[in-house]
Amino acid sequence: MNHRPRRNRKSAGIRNMVQETRVNLDQLIFPLFMADGKDIRHEVKSMPGMFRLSQGLLLKEMEECLELGIKSFALFPSFDESQKDSHATLSYDAENYYLKFIEQAKSHFPEAVLMSDVAMDPYSSDGHDGIVVDGEIVNDPTLDVLSKMAVAQAQAGIDIIGPSDMMDGRVGHIREELDLNGYTDVSIMSYTAKYASGFYGPFRDALDSAPKAGDKKTYQMDPSNRREALREAALDLAEGADMLMVKPALSYLDIISDLQDFSNVPIAAYNVSGEYAMIKAAAANGWLDYDTVMPEVLTSIVRAGADIVLTYFAKDFAKMMR
Ligand code: PBG
Repeated sequence: MNHRPRRNRKSAGIRNMVQETRVNLDQLIFPLFMADGKDIRHEVKSMPGMFRLSQGLLLKEMEECLELGIKSFALFPSFDESQKDSHATLSYDAENYYLKFIEQAKSHFPEAVLMSDVAMDPYSSDGHDGIVVDGEIVNDPTLDVLSKMAVAQAQAGIDIIGPSDMMDGRVGHIREELDLNGYTDVSIMSYTAKYASGFYGPFRDALDSAPKAGDKKTYQMDPSNRREALREAALDLAEGADMLMVKPALSYLDIISDLQDFSNVPIAAYNVSGEYAMIKAAAANGWLDYDTVMPEVLTSIVRAGADIVLTYFAKDFAKMMR
C-alpha cells in the first residue's frame, strides 16, 4: 500500500496540523434576547442556558462575552402584547427600549459589532413580519415600515442591519433610505435564503412573536427549493447587500455551499433556536455528548462554506476554546 490516509491521523499534533476547517471566535455572532425592565433574567424554556435579559444584565452578559473573545452580537427585543399594533409603529419610536439599548451598548462597548433584526413580528399584533390586510401579508406597504425601523436603528448606532422579513425588494428600499438619511456606512446582512422552517419554534417562544393566524409560507422560502436561493441571492446583491445569510443552517448546508460558490460577499449561516434546542435536549438526557457535538456542528457549518455563524452556542464554544 502506497497510500495510508491514516498516517495523517496518527497523533493529535498531526491531526491539528492537517485540519482543513477551523472555527474561530471572530466569525461567531451571539444572538441575545432582551426584555425591558430591571433585573429580569427569564430563562427560555425551550432553550436551556438562554435568557431574556433586561438592560443592566445584558450589558454584564456582553462584557463577559467580550472578555471570552466574542465580539459580535445580534440583539432581539421582546415586547409586551399591549405595546404591539398592526403597523409595528413601536419599532421606529425613538423611545423604545431596544433603540435606547443599542445606543447604550455602543457607548459602553465601542469595539463590539452590533447587529439588529429588521422585521415586524416582535412589534406586530398579528405576529407577522409584514403588514396584514384581510389575512394577506402585503409586501410594498411593509417596506416603508422596515425602512423606518432600519433608519431608527442606524440612528441608534447599529453596525449591521439584519432584515429577516423576506419581503421582496426590502434590501434595496432599506439601502436607499439609509443612504438618504446619511447612514452610508451602516451595513446590511440580508437574510437571503430564509426558509419557512419548523426550527424557529423556540425563538418564537423566547420573544412571544409567533403569528396569531396562518404561517409564514407566503414570504419565507419552501424548504424543498435550492435554485431559488440563487435567485434571492442575485436580487439581494443587486439591491446592495453587504453579506448574505442562509437560515437555518444544519438542514441547509447545501444552500450555504451554493451561495459561497455563487457570490463574492461574506456568507453567514444562522444556526437557529431549534438546532440549539435539539442538542441541548439530547445532551440533558445523556443521549449525546455536548462537548463533542457542539463544536462538530459549528465546524460543519463553516466547512460547508459559512464565513460567519450566528449561534446560541457562541458563549459555550468560547469557554471551550479557553
Ligand atoms: C424574526 C426572526 C425569526 C428568527 C430570527 N428573526 C423567527 C421567524 O422568522 O419566525 C429565528 C431565529 C431562531 O430560530 O433562532 N423575523
